[in-house]
Amino acid sequence: MSQPDIILIGAGGHAHACIDVIEQQGQFKIAGLVGLPSELHNHHLGYSVIAMDDDLPQLQKEYCYAFITLGQILSPNSRIRLYQQAVQLGFQLPVIIAPTAYVSPHASLGSGTLIMHGAIVNAGATVGNNCIINNLSLVEHDATVENHCHISTGAILNGGVKIGMGSFIGSGSVIKEGVVIGAGSVVGMGLAVRHDLIDHSIFRGTGN
Ligand SMILES: CC(C)(COP(=O)(O)OP(=O)(O)OC[C@H]1O[C@@H](n2cnc3c(N)ncnc32)[C@H](O)[C@@H]1OP(=O)(O)O)[C@@H](O)C(=O)NCCC(=O)NCCS
Repeated sequence: MSQPDIILIGAGGHAHACIDVIEQQGQFKIAGLVGLPSELHNHHLGYSVIAMDDDLPQLQKEYCYAFITLGQILSPNSRIRLYQQAVQLGFQLPVIIAPTAYVSPHASLGSGTLIMHGAIVNAGATVGNNCIINNLSLVEHDATVENHCHISTGAILNGGVKIGMGSFIGSGSVIKEGVVIGAGSVVGMGLAVRHDLIDHSIFRGTGN
């Protein structure tokens, strides 16, 4: 079966991790990356930066599929802007699931979301659009991850947790069952969150 071309928008370190998952998943052929003017013609794992953000309208005439491969820690704004621009231009943003991940048939995933190596999205969980569910993370039963969130490497969202839109959960952090993390929040790495957080919280553990 022929693989449709896909354009990757974002040419930093996170793009490398995305390339690995897309290659292993095997559904798409990577046509190239879109990056900053200073990144033009750079090479990433054998793929070139072929265009800049401003070229997206032109690229859409040639390519049907795109994926946001920019990383996200403190602010989701660049990923949100690029996602919205890509959708408005008419690109299709697929769900991409690593072959080593497990996604329950009773879970739902939004467009442009990436489920990376060894991640688990369990029964009844809902993950919105343009999310990164990073390597080895766990979205437990009935948890909700709203649009544009990044659940980092090895993070654990226990049953019924809700992560508000545009939030970041740091590597190895654990969110207690049922806890609600407000929109636009940042939870640092290696932390335990036992209580709800209001919108735009930055949680660094004791003495926040
Ligand atoms: C929460 C975070 C975003 C804060 O970044 P920041 O505002 O630049 O703050 P700093 O890193 O300067 O930390 C300031 C202080 O807050 C505390 N602190 C920050 N993050 C902490 C954490 N995760 N655990 C414990 N204390 C933390 C420390 O006291 C630190 O002081 P120190 O640098 O003297 O140790 C960052 O620390 C973090 O955890 N990033 C996530 C990394 C990650 O998970 N990456 C995975 C990518 S897949």
